[in-house]
Amino acid sequence: MRDLPIGVFDSGLGGLTVVREIRRALPNEAIVYLGDTARVPYGTRSSATVVRYARGCARLLIERGIKALVVACNTVSAVALDVLRAELDVPVLGVVVPGAEAAVTAALSLEQQLGHAVSIGVLGTASTIGSGAYPRAVAALSTRHEVHAATAPLLVPLVEEGWVTGEVPRLAVERYVAPLVSQSVRVLVLGCTHYPLLRETIALVSSQLSRDPIVVVDSAEATARALAELLAARDLLASGKSARLELLVTDVPGTFGDAAARFLGERADAPVQVDIPVTL
Ligand code: DGL
Repeated sequence: MRDLPIGVFDSGLGGLTVVREIRRALPNEAIVYLGDTARVPYGTRSSATVVRYARGCARLLIERGIKALVVACNTVSAVALDVLRAELDVPVLGVVVPGAEAAVTAALSLEQQLGHAVSIGVLGTASTIGSGAYPRAVAALSTRHEVHAATAPLLVPLVEEGWVTGEVPRLAVERYVAPLVSQSVRVLVLGCTHYPLLRETIALVSSQLSRDPIVVVDSAEATARALAELLAARDLLASGKSARLELLVTDVPGTFGDAAARFLGERADAPVQVDIPVTL
């Protein structure tokens, strides 16, 4: 069991930001990553559709043999995690709770430094924000902090386009972040797989808008740490060194390999196209 790969899936490329952090935290682990590129984006779809897509992705990975499943998509983690946990026989980890935990830790330490209360902000897709999953996850950990959540629909296409610095992303980020900063948000959660690629721009813009420091929380990093703890606790850490990374996609791979390198920060083997079994 220990030497089976970790399964990771997302609606497309974005979840590779989570894979990048998993490979940093757990360099001996083999990973099989599925990007549902034929059906991306998930973030604009209904919960029922996202649950159906998520079941198909999870089943495909389970059939290949995995020891744990990481749902690297914020949208799926927000609306379908409980369904997957109830239905699957492997441990399932999403990105929302680790992101909320990291946000609460950051908010508590910032409050000590500043001497006043701070709010937590979350940027995400329409489905993630509409689900209320982040405010619920924060409230389950601490009722001290107000949570302000906002959709940032233009940021996913900007990142897909590789447009992560310069005037256009700066203006888009400013438009989404300014209302949060004016509501005392000093801890900002990147609640979408794509946003870590805009981290520099988001950090720069928010620090220009606020007199106080702003802490940007990347749920990818927090998820990789949570996965390391989960595998250790269940005695599932790889016994040898494999580090193999297999990429699967549901549409023709096209330029996925090149784009994947931007999200991953390294080159990987060419992606392989697969079909997802039809689920109801
Ligand atoms: N992976 C999605 C998320 O983290 C963003 C892209 C999409 O909408 O599918 O919410």
